[in-house]
Formats: sequence, structure tokens, C-alpha cells
Amino acid sequence: MRTTTRLLTAHPAWKSLSKHRREIERVHLRELFAKDPKRAERFTAEAAGLFLDYSKNRITQVTLKLLLELAEQSELRAKIDAMFSGQRINVTEDRAVLHVALRAPRDAVIEVDGRNVVPEVHAVLDKMADFSNRVRAGQWKGHTGKHIRNVVNIGIGGSDLGPLMACEALKHYSDRNLTFRFVSNVDGIDFVEAARDLDPAGTLFIVSSKTFTTLETMTNAQTARDWLLKGLGGDHSAVAKHFVAVSTNAARVSAFGIDPANMFGFWDWVGGRYSMDSAIGVSTMLAVGPENFKAMLNGFHEMDEHFRTAPFEQNLPVLLGLLTVWYTHFFDAQTVAVLPYEQYLKRFPAYLQQLTMESNGKHVTLDGQQVTYDTGPVFWGEPGTNGQHSFYQLIHQGTRLIPCDFIAFAQALVPLGPHHDMLLANVLAQAEALASGKTAKEVKAEGAPDWLVPHRVFEGNRPSNMILAECLTPEILGALVALYEHSDFTQGVIWNVNSFDQRGVELGKALARRIIPELESERAPRLKHDSSTNNLIRRCRQIKGAQ
Ligand code: F6P
Repeated sequence: MRTTTRLLTAHPAWKSLSKHRREIERVHLRELFAKDPKRAERFTAEAAGLFLDYSKNRITQVTLKLLLELAEQSELRAKIDAMFSGQRINVTEDRAVLHVALRAPRDAVIEVDGRNVVPEVHAVLDKMADFSNRVRAGQWKGHTGKHIRNVVNIGIGGSDLGPLMACEALKHYSDRNLTFRFVSNVDGIDFVEAARDLDPAGTLFIVSSKTFTTLETMTNAQTARDWLLKGLGGDHSAVAKHFVAVSTNAARVSAFGIDPANMFGFWDWVGGRYSMDSAIGVSTMLAVGPENFKAMLNGFHEMDEHFRTAPFEQNLPVLLGLLTVWYTHFFDAQTVAVLPYEQYLKRFPAYLQQLTMESNGKHVTLDGQQVTYDTGPVFWGEPGTNGQHSFYQLIHQGTRLIPCDFIAFAQALVPLGPHHDMLLANVLAQAEALASGKTAKEVKAEGAPDWLVPHRVFEGNRPSNMILAECLTPEILGALVALYEHSDFTQGVIWNVNSFDQRGVELGKALARRIIPELESERAPRLKHDSSTNNLIRRCRQIKGAQ
């Protein structure tokens, strides 16, 4: 399907925003707070257990009005409806984009090509629940009759980052009798380290791959099978008790030797980076049990409904997405820092990197025109307070503008003396310091000698969002992930790009396939790369003693 759309920069709201940016350039957040005692109330919104305070952004009510107009002029409402109704909005792959169906209630109706997909989604969830209950209860035993104690997910990208992040995030709710490991890298060390202290007789491998063709996953799965068979005396029938698969490709699963009865399916309308709540989440369900997994899906669904129905001015994903667009274009911000003040969310920034950068790292519009503006920023981050002792210096006093999303929880999952109040005080203090800064006058009043004053000045006026929830529950995790999924969608709509393909990963993969035999061949290969790549291949061959 080909569409021709008005260029983003031709929207009237875009032009007004460009003008407005010049007006707001010199306004300081300190001034904005001083002028309007109700600013904090004005710029907050709440949904699905998440409270968003976006008052520490360089915006006024005029900015917000113009950004909302930009959303309207970009037809965001119609595009949300198109996604939720199963239209093939992933135009370059001619697919629907329906991760929202993965968390729809059992009685919902969501059709793809006239077929309601919700019953299939729930059939897979039921199968996952039955399997998880059996493993957790010790009814699913290994080949030698031993209980399964270790679960190793083998996958990469969306088939790794989501379940890895969720297992870590929900560790508090997990069965501590089970050990979870994640193997993703084709670097053999990843497998070696994951398996080194595991007993094959008590180990279950989940081979997770949408396509079941991914080089890293297939190589690791093969290595895992060899390791298992070696450990269990070479009896091939052991594979059935120690390997299950998650995939859309039943034929390849079966060709690998995994019984399709032990396969959990999903569908081509679930993108890899949107799949942690599909069967790709079976490791998460094994860890936390079906009830907690269901609670996570409820949190996703609550945010989905909010995104679908709430007016844009109260719509958390829309607001978050528009703010990213605002800084990307009008303040030249190149990155967004995501800073969770919750140790259990330590993998959340890494998870978001795939979600956001694979989605909106695009250089052409939906109709194939080169964009004339920046698209997806770099997402990065680390949990607080660790980051404060490394890169926060640059955020506070460096020359770049780095919008920050702080994520905080009012209550600790495991209260421990003064720790949680200290953690909370730190996140609140960081947001305050970034916004207000510290003037030369204030520094001087503290008695600093003149020469030292400039070094101790904080400009402030550095924007941040605060996403606050009561505590980290499975529901909140679902809502948080859906918040970023839909914020990403909002940005993609404004930039008029396809947020649902990832062609940019193909070229490197194809070249690697060509280089593998060149490294492996016994005879010196005829190399036809650029001279740098040729030299590097020759050098690697020489070091390993090849011709
Ligand atoms: O290389 C990118 C990618 O296609 C991701 O989009 C995907 O999540 C990952 O590889 C893994 O793919 P698969 O689940 O098919 O193994």
C-alpha cells in the first residue's frame, strides 16, 4: 500500500512551533514556576497507576496547545484507530500491528482479515499457563525424572530483551527455586557462562525466535542441544523433555527437532520488540506464575485503553511522545535518558533501546521520501543512583540538552531501613536541580571565590519528566512498557515513518554470512571487500594460523 502524505514541516502547527520555539528559548523553568503557582497541577496526568509530572519541561500552555495541534494535523487519532482495528499499518511488510491484541480480554473482538484473533491469543496463554504450572509444580520432569530447576531462554533482540527485563523487574514475585538465565550473544562465552554450573538433568531450554532462522539463536540452540545430549549420555529422546520453542515458524521448529506439541506460537502481526507479552514471555510466566503474568497483561491493557480513548491533553503516551518530538526538533536534543530509581528495573533502559531505536531509527517517510528532519533519538540510561556518580555531571553542566525520564516508586518492594527515602530524595533532588540550577549569585552567597564561581554554577533549565507509581507490581510494569510503546507510536506518526519494520539490521547480517566462510575456509579466500575489511580478515586468519 502506498500513501502520499503532507510533509511534517508543511503542517501549520509545525510552522507555529518553530516560531514559538524562538519565544521560549530564553525563558527559564525557574521563571515559569515562579509565575504560575499552579504549574505542577497544570502539567500532570495520570493513568493505569502511573502519575506523569511533566511540569519540568520547557513548555508553556501555548507549547502544549501547538504540540496537540501537531498531533491532530498528523492524524494521530485516525492512526491509533487504524492500529487497534487491525489495519495493515506496517506497510513495508504488509502486516497488521496488533501487540494490543496480546493483552485484550478474553471476550474482546479484534479482527485481522475478518478473523477474530483474540481466541487464539487466549488459547496460547492457556497453554503457557498449563505448561508453567506443571514446571513450577515439578510435574514436568527432565529426561531422567529430575525436577526442572533451571530455565535458559535462548533468543536475541525482542526474543531476549523483553523477557530478560521482565524476569529481572518482577524478581520479587518470582519462584526462587527456579534459576533463570538468558543466552543471546553468538559469542560462545554467553552460553559457556550461563551453563557452567547447571545440571543438564534439571535444565529446560526455551528456544525463542519469531523466525527460527536467526543466526545467533540457532547457533546457541544447537550448542545447547549438544551440551544437553553430552550431559545426558547422548539419548536423543531427552530433547523432548528439555527443549521447548516459541516461534511463528512451526516447520523450522520441527526441523530443529523440537516436538511442535512443545511449541508456543505467536503471529506475524507481533513485532519482535513488541512481543514480551506474547509466548515470548513464557520464561517470565515460568518465573512469576500465570496469575502475575495475567496481572501484567492487565496493566498493558489498561494503558492501551487509555491511549485509545483519552483526550490527547490527558493522554500519557501522547504527551510523552510529543515532548520527545519537541526536544528532538526544536532543541536539537539527540538523546533521551531513561533513569529508573528502582534496582529491579536495571534492564529497562536496554529493553527500551530496541523498542525505541529499532522502531523510529528511520530515514524515509512512509511513502519513501527522505526525511528533512531528525527522527528517533538515542535512548539510554542506567538505574539511579548509580548514574549520579558517573554521567549526570554531563547532564547537569555539559553543553548538550538531554531530556530525562525519571521513573520512581513511592514505596519499596522490600523496605530496608532508610534506603527507600534516600532513593526517593535523590530522584526528586535530581529533577529539581536540573530544572532550577544554581545561579552565580547563589554560589557567591555561599562564599565561593570569584574564580571558582563559574565552575559551581548550574544553568538549570534542563527538562525532565517524572513517572511516579506506588510500587513496582506486574500491572505497573505492563502499564510502563505500554506507555513507551505508544509514546513511540506517537513519535512515529508525527515523523510519518514506519515504526514497525527494521530493515536497517539486514545489511550487516548479510555481510556477516559472507564473511563467516572467509574466516573459516582452510584455503586463503579471494576477498572482495574494501581494503580495510580485507586486511582485517587476513589478519584474523593469520592470528589463528590459517593461510
Ligand atoms: O535483527 C533484528 C531482529 O529481527 C529483531 O527485530 C528481533 O527482535 C530479533 O532480530 C530476533 O529475531 P527472531 O525472534 O526472529 O529470532
